[in-house]
Amino acid sequence: MQKPSVKPNSPYFSSGPCAKRPGWSLDALKDATVARSHRAKGGKAKLAAVIERSKALLEMPSDYRLGIVPASDTGAIEIALWSLLGERGVDVFAWESFGSAWAADCKKQLKLKDVRLFDADYGKMPDLSQADWNRDAVFTWNGTTSGVKVPNGDWISADRTGLAICDATSAVFAMPMPWDKLDVVTWSWQKVMGGEAAHGMIALSPRAVKRLESYTPAWPLPKIFQMTKGGKLAVGIFEGETINTPSMLCVEDALDGLKWGEQIGGLKALVGRSEANLKAIEDWSAQAGWIGFLAEKTETRSNTSVCLKITDPWYAGLSAEEQEKGAKKIASLLETEGVAFDIGAYRDAPAGLRIWAGATVETSDLKALFPWLDWAWNEVKTSATKAA
Ligand SMILES: Cc1ncc(COP(=O)(O)O)c(C=O)c1O
Repeated sequence: MQKPSVKPNSPYFSSGPCAKRPGWSLDALKDATVARSHRAKGGKAKLAAVIERSKALLEMPSDYRLGIVPASDTGAIEIALWSLLGERGVDVFAWESFGSAWAADCKKQLKLKDVRLFDADYGKMPDLSQADWNRDAVFTWNGTTSGVKVPNGDWISADRTGLAICDATSAVFAMPMPWDKLDVVTWSWQKVMGGEAAHGMIALSPRAVKRLESYTPAWPLPKIFQMTKGGKLAVGIFEGETINTPSMLCVEDALDGLKWGEQIGGLKALVGRSEANLKAIEDWSAQAGWIGFLAEKTETRSNTSVCLKITDPWYAGLSAEEQEKGAKKIASLLETEGVAFDIGAYRDAPAGLRIWAGATVETSDLKALFPWLDWAWNEVKTSATKAA
């Protein structure tokens, strides 16, 4: 098989940090309020703009609070777990590495007594209908490392008394979020909008705020986890007064991404771009004959972190070690060719490829990548079968 001649214009298919928006350059950061206090008028206005523009772009209900908190998405979800859990039992749903980490936090760090864990292997989804909505629930919306996403919010009770706490970092801006079904939603800047990694975002429903103001956890909370003051919500956090110092370069970049999202047509356009990318991968993989989706059910296929497994019968007969070596070889060949960066499966996930298909990725770049994937696969298989 001949090496393809046309390369993608952008070889960035990493699942985080993800591709910058089309046309991005460092120039986008030239108005950053560097070397100034983030609490000065200009800096605070930028932080408030990230909050307001995110709320508008995501079509979030006006009575939800959105704040900027330390430590990216991990910081945001852990603030939620540490601040809200323990008031009642919790159901945790986990089907890949990040969900499992939040389950471990509940059990081993917070040492919660009443935890029910519903877990499933890579590619599968636990039975979401098991949730008891008189309890709290913790789950990721999109399992970034398995490419399995929650298909919709139908399983979440509108009459719940518990809180729905959702790590949605590789979902927001690419998948419609049923806000009325979610009480805590967290994400980072470096995923679908292609921003720089820094602070995280946390959205709280009125019911989550009520819990914060009526319940004090039994454990101590470090300063960077404190969302209340004197038993009341620290409203400043939700108006741009961050708990600690943010990078104003990253804030500027987050704003740049949001402005791009607005310009191209808002949420519908962002979701549409990502869904078109998934469709292109589906069409290619269906005719490629050697690769398929790790997600077992079509409706759970992620349209951002698309995880693929090699289905070729020869490959299926290899040892786990050889399979991993083969998949890694495809990724490294394409990296060496400058065609695709960081498309190997996540370190804890089954061997395979993971291609980011969020809104900042151009479908034309994916289409240019497909012949290269076929070529790299052919290289790996022919060199291994020749050697044997
Ligand atoms: C579902 C999910 N949760 C949490 C994280 C960790 O995010 P961060 O590095 O922003 O803390 C990631 C990162 O890829 C993720 O995909």
